[in-house]
Amino acid sequence: MEIHNPKSKRALILGITGQDGSYLSELLISKGYEVHGIIRRSSSFNTERIEHLYHDPHEPHVRLNLHYGDLMDGSSLRAVISQIQPDEIYNLGAQSHVRVSFDQPVYTVEVDALGTLILLEAIRDAAPRARFYQAGSSEMFGKVREVPQREATPFYPRSPYGCAKVFAHWQTLNYREAYGMFACNGILFNHESPRRGETFVTRKITRAATRIKEGLQEAVYLGNLEARRDWGYAGDYVEAMWLMLQQEEAQDYVVATGETHSVREFVEETFGLLDLDWKKYVRIDPRYFRPTEVDLLLGDSTKARTLLGWQLTVSFRELIKMMVEADRKLARRERLVKESSAMIQGA
Ligand code: NAP
Ligand code: GDD
Repeated sequence: MEIHNPKSKRALILGITGQDGSYLSELLISKGYEVHGIIRRSSSFNTERIEHLYHDPHEPHVRLNLHYGDLMDGSSLRAVISQIQPDEIYNLGAQSHVRVSFDQPVYTVEVDALGTLILLEAIRDAAPRARFYQAGSSEMFGKVREVPQREATPFYPRSPYGCAKVFAHWQTLNYREAYGMFACNGILFNHESPRRGETFVTRKITRAATRIKEGLQEAVYLGNLEARRDWGYAGDYVEAMWLMLQQEEAQDYVVATGETHSVREFVEETFGLLDLDWKKYVRIDPRYFRPTEVDLLLGDSTKARTLLGWQLTVSFRELIKMMVEADRKLARRERLVKESSAMIQGA
């Protein structure tokens, strides 16, 4: 199987400011890529996760090139793609929160479904030979038709987000078949890290438990503790994205650990690492339940392991430990800031 020489290849990342965008940027820079990213203008900075790449004191030249744009704005995408002529384009941009997609279904579908189509059209027009990665999701399996879920498992989405991702999946596949574009769908199961957004359940739990430990918070309010997810480490998952675009043929792949755990187990493990009895601190709030839930996700990534040679490096317990350690540091800093400002006020 031929792996293309990545030296001086050019990549464009949509969603570069998100969890996966930051890990993927690191990976591509380490492989010698010239990395470009689309960012949205916001009233305050939203580039915290990639600051260290942009302003690296050891590498004074700019390694990241950022361009303003939006998945809903085809003309800006077309202009950037036409100017850069990327070898690889990764679409990680999305309204990615499932619960929020029930509150903002139209917006979610616009960005996640229509936005992908707008991007595919811009690529077809401006750089049809670019290799394309679409960030598909295990949420597409929804009310699962078989266990474990693999590439051939039928979709049964249970949220506006899931429906939007199914549309984007089929559009990507269709552009591959209709126009011969090198377009791949990664069907990624949940992946987490210390850079995970704070309203996703894993980070919400590690953030809350470490703040409770440092005396900064008294309790945490959660929803369904019985839902089961196949949780992996984001750093491992971006490697799979890259591998998909290095193959001779464009295909779709499931990326998962092959283990499933409940939210309750995640809570127990996190609080246990901090010597806290979770039952004293976890409260249930109906606000965090979803109108329709995905009860069980468990992926079979045999194809990715066999054809891509993809491997996991971080286990479920190691992942939680990594997140707890990072959030403990954050909570300690927060406590110190709070204590010193109290001292200044008392002086
Ligand atoms: P994330 O942290 O929520 O990041 C989402 C990114 O999309 C952010 O950079 C965000 O920019 C950008 N974005 C949002 N709306 C946009 C728009 N209209 N135009 C351009 N960019 C836009 O998500 P993630 O966890 O890194 O996930 C990356 C992708 O993988 C998403 O498509 C997600 O749906 C999918 N996925 C994630 C998982 C997972 O477990 N993490 C699993 C399967 C699939 P701002 O910073 O400006 O908001
Ligand atoms: N967010 C959140 N907050 N979820 C909670 C809470 C809570 O307080 N309490 C329980 N949960 C349950 C949810 O009901 C769900 O069953 C599970 O925890 C995981 O929720 P999230 O962490 O929000 O992730 P998700 O599985 O809905 O979606 C994530 O994974 C998908 C892949 O399957 C996102 O990253 C999606 O973008 C991604 O596609």
